[in-house]
Amino acid sequence: MASELTYRGGAASPSAGAAGAAGEYSSPKPASSKPLAWLPRAARYAAAEHRPLFALVGMLVAAAIFCLAAPSGSGSGTAAPYSSSGRVSGALTRFSVDPAAHNPGRQFVAGKVPLGLKRKGLRVLVTGGAGFVGSHLVDRLVARGDSVIVVDNLFTGRKENVMHHFGNPNFEMIRHDVVEPILLEVDQIYHLACPASPVHYKYNPVKTIKTNVVGTLNMLGLAKRIGARFLLTSTSEVYGDPLQHPQVETYWGNVNPIGVRSCYDEGKRTAETLTMDYHRGANLEVRIARIFNTYGPRMCIDDGRVVSNFVAQALRKEPLTVYGDGKQTRSFQYVSDLVESFTAKYLGC
Ligand SMILES: NC(=O)c1ccc[n+]([C@@H]2O[C@H](COP(=O)([O-])OP(=O)(O)OC[C@H]3O[C@@H](n4cnc5c(N)ncnc54)[C@H](O)[C@@H]3O)[C@@H](O)[C@H]2O)c1
Repeated sequence: MASELTYRGGAASPSAGAAGAAGEYSSPKPASSKPLAWLPRAARYAAAEHRPLFALVGMLVAAAIFCLAAPSGSGSGTAAPYSSSGRVSGALTRFSVDPAAHNPGRQFVAGKVPLGLKRKGLRVLVTGGAGFVGSHLVDRLVARGDSVIVVDNLFTGRKENVMHHFGNPNFEMIRHDVVEPILLEVDQIYHLACPASPVHYKYNPVKTIKTNVVGTLNMLGLAKRIGARFLLTSTSEVYGDPLQHPQVETYWGNVNPIGVRSCYDEGKRTAETLTMDYHRGANLEVRIARIFNTYGPRMCIDDGRVVSNFVAQALRKEPLTVYGDGKQTRSFQYVSDLVESFTAKYLGC
């Protein structure tokens, strides 16, 4: 039985004739007596019935339908008007990533706009956009005509800070923790998500450093994938307890790596490192803003920061607390000046 099976299989049988050697396992006639006898039986049958011809015609018809149905702009690298859903599942199929995104000289405009027409708004992601600084940035971007997506886990942020944009088709808010990856299609990423006041970042220090490291890694990965510009909001705390005053950008700081504030200080330092490594390694266009004390509307009144402390005590008609000898200096800025610097100076838009 075994030898018979081997024989029917064709090539291996020593007793097989010319037909057996060619895989002819059912016809007793010699292969040379038929045209195309060298082909397997199934192929010979198909050839006799003109099947290849029909298959070819079918393929041509399918190709013609595909070409006619494809969108005319695909592959041009320009952006179509933004869908308010903003989710990448839909958006990725609509927007092709422009390889020029990694060109440092590239101007980030949402599509090639003919001369004389108004420029289309950018698609911008603001992480931490429901917080104090983030919500002011969102106001500015929306006023500028951009499509803004806020990603925020509402740890210290509040819906009320951005509620006035609900219903605006150019605004979308996603409750999401940046420690988890997310896929979106945007032109710029402003990465602010991180509790900023000591009272909040010390509440869960491990989560704070995770937000700074894993969260920043996720956002940089997204920026690289979609070719978006990236801005990291860092802090003057990267200088730690500085030995140089005032601090210049070339000063590397004097930071305690094991103190109770280290989750924030070292977290932001690592976030800066990651940002620069993506810039050098992936040619990502990045900005780092080392923010000093900022104040303005929507600050959390009990967050323990200098200005909010003074204002809260004044409102409660309590004596103002002055720490130390009162001779220490700080740099302060109003929130609108900070936001102005993000959009005008750092991103150049
Ligand atoms: N306000 C300042 O004076 C100051 C100074 C230096 C640096 N900064 C930086 O600016 C940024 C904004 O600061 P802020 O004053 O608006 O603080 P904030 O606490 O008001 O805002 C931070 C926002 O990030 C959100 N967030 C926190 N962790 C998150 C996470 N894991 N995932 C998603 N969202 C998260 C919060 O809910 C909040 O909406 C921060 O990165 C902060 O480090 C601020």
